[in-house]
Amino acid sequence: MLQGKTIVLGVSGGIAAYKAVELVRLFTKAGATVQVIMTKAATEFVGPLTFQTLSGNPVHQQLFNLIEEQEIGHISLAERADLFVIAPATANVIGKIASGIADDLLTTAVMATRAPVLIVPAMNVNMFQNPLYKANEERLRNLGYRFVAPVTGMLACGWQGEGKMQDPAVILEEAVALLAPDDLAGETVLVTAGPTREEIDPVRFISNHSSGKMGYAIARAAWRRGARVILVSGPTCLPDPWGPETVRVSTAAQMLEAVQARLKESSIVIKAAAVADYRPKERSEAKVKKHAGQMTLEMERNPDILAEVGRQKDGRLVIGFAAETEDLLANARRKLQEKNLDLIVANDVGQPGAGFDVETNIVRLLFPDGRVEEPGIMPKEELADLILDRIVALRATPV
Ligand code: PMT
Repeated sequence: MLQGKTIVLGVSGGIAAYKAVELVRLFTKAGATVQVIMTKAATEFVGPLTFQTLSGNPVHQQLFNLIEEQEIGHISLAERADLFVIAPATANVIGKIASGIADDLLTTAVMATRAPVLIVPAMNVNMFQNPLYKANEERLRNLGYRFVAPVTGMLACGWQGEGKMQDPAVILEEAVALLAPDDLAGETVLVTAGPTREEIDPVRFISNHSSGKMGYAIARAAWRRGARVILVSGPTCLPDPWGPETVRVSTAAQMLEAVQARLKESSIVIKAAAVADYRPKERSEAKVKKHAGQMTLEMERNPDILAEVGRQKDGRLVIGFAAETEDLLANARRKLQEKNLDLIVANDVGQPGAGFDVETNIVRLLFPDGRVEEPGIMPKEELADLILDRIVALRATPV
């Protein structure tokens, strides 16, 4: 997600500095080169060696350091940054930046950078609510600086309230979004993900192996690319992603209802969910008891949500998936036509590395004009962006 990007991470002096350690780990894991600048106060909370070890780069602390100045220097650091993140950002550092004060390496480098700056405040609730702080934040927001708002909770100073630094995983999402193209801005993307559960009785259900990973990856990528995203999810073990509005459902009938309720406001629909085609004709109120001999379960058809959406297109782009174990292309082509889709993503779910509950997928992309694209095996996160690239291109094509 951050491959080839350089992030300069400014750490200022607050107890939340220890959480910045996790942030370095997340940034480097996502592929970024991380250069850490620590203020003097920050080093009182966490030793520079921790950041140096995790980032794999020397930690920058001095504004005037003969060795660093020769090799890097504050201007060079500022220029190398694709993104500047300050986490935690104290009221003092935010106040200095808002006032144009550049009296240490961090504030000087921030003033010198042309990269986007993401500020992650962490402070006592009274400081956070102080009108002076509020004015500084507003001034910086108006100048284009971006903020990740703190959360409410028990603060290190013993107070309860707003001021706790946001979770590093959320800061990572915001950082990735800042660097992503904004090519879905103005779109509302409705994504479905995960399985459905069709209940037999209070303790049993019929379902499938969908984990939700494919659909959640699409929802996250669309949000990063500037879209408003509604994620309608069947039961999964995944947490609600940061950014999209998540609606949890269980059965196919509930998924249909949730999709229909939000269809009017959606300009793009992507159906990655594995919806049960059949449900038990009757759900027993009590647990079904075992008895001698066989048991027969009568099933009835579930509504086809995607076909329903394809019938009422109204200018929106509709993208489906096809999960097949045989005749992949023929079956996918039939679904593309029958469900009136603009694109179908066909996966042979019998192949290792493809389909249900794995990190990668192997798909073919089929378009109504007969084009077929075969991108090969790739992580679901990467495939999500590829699908969105094709959707952006379809949007740009005059009908
Ligand atoms: O969730 P993961 O573990 O990451 O796995 C990803 C996935 C394998 C679930 C995903 O890549 C995928 O293939 N999703 C579609 C699964 C499916 O139900 O395929 P299908 O061929 O049965 O259905 C075709 C399309 O119609 C799908 O877009 C499906 O959402 C939709 N459908 C199907 C039946 C139904 N009653 N209503 C529907 O909307």
